[in-house]
Amino acid sequence: MMRDFNELTSTAAVIERMANCRDERLRQIVTSVVNHLHAIVKEVEPTFEEWAFAIDFLTRTGQICDDTRQEFILLSDTLGVSMLVDAINHRRNSAATESTVLGPFHVAGAPRLQMGDSISRDGQGEPLYMSGVVLNESGAPIEGALLDVWQTSHDGFYDVQDARQPVMNLRGQFITGRDGRYFFRSIKPSSYPIPSDGTVGIMLAALGRHPMRPAHVHFIVSAQGYQDVTTHVFVEGDPYLDSDAVFGVKESLIVPFVRHDDVPAAERLGVTNPFYTAEYDFVLVRAAVAQPTPLESRA
Ligand code: BEZ
Ligand code: FE
Repeated sequence: MMRDFNELTSTAAVIERMANCRDERLRQIVTSVVNHLHAIVKEVEPTFEEWAFAIDFLTRTGQICDDTRQEFILLSDTLGVSMLVDAINHRRNSAATESTVLGPFHVAGAPRLQMGDSISRDGQGEPLYMSGVVLNESGAPIEGALLDVWQTSHDGFYDVQDARQPVMNLRGQFITGRDGRYFFRSIKPSSYPIPSDGTVGIMLAALGRHPMRPAHVHFIVSAQGYQDVTTHVFVEGDPYLDSDAVFGVKESLIVPFVRHDDVPAAERLGVTNPFYTAEYDFVLVRAAVAQPTPLESRA
């Protein structure tokens, strides 16, 4: 029984009301939310104006969301929550390629391409030849691995943000052969700002933070019987590697994008000279339970 709700009794009063909740996990989570929320309020002692500002901030965050814009995930990303959830769920001490945030710009159903094809549909930017092998934990190549690839244009926009780009520009899916190898042509990605025209942008500016992400190429790598890896390959030397707006960088995912001025090599690789090369090998570990084949899950 609880009538006098005050600073001393508040947390217990709310937690007590959940006594009839049958969902153990829900009760555990909401109990923790209430504990932490009340602790914050007691520590910060907000004025009514500050409380109303917080409510308005969250309301506007929701109002910006639609089928293609998810400001709450962006808020989670920029507060380090997305990468913390990722870290907790990939705690296993495994040989798998490290994961990082999916981000809002993945589009299902990117075109299925042949090895060596270009994912650039407008030819804008500095040519890139990217290659590597998909391996298992023992270092053996994985046949039939699916690589779903996407990246920004040379000036830092995904196709879905930029009406100047052809649909599905800089997106593609590749399936490895018996040697586990992948190779495709593209353009060198650039660093770019996350969407900053919403509440997250207002928050970053108010906190003296920039919205930039270091240049990267996104990959989801999957294969039958293996755990998927959602990750990026980052461009070594990028000025934002130590201050990624969404905390997604891991040392193991940074590789050199090497510039070449070599006409015969460019001809051999099917790119124009000068060009860049980048190499990265992905490692997948066995899934505990059988998964659908990549072809079924990403048709
Ligand atoms: C991205 O890399 O595409 C991204 C990730 C998190 C937030 C915004 C963009
Ligand atoms: Fe990205």
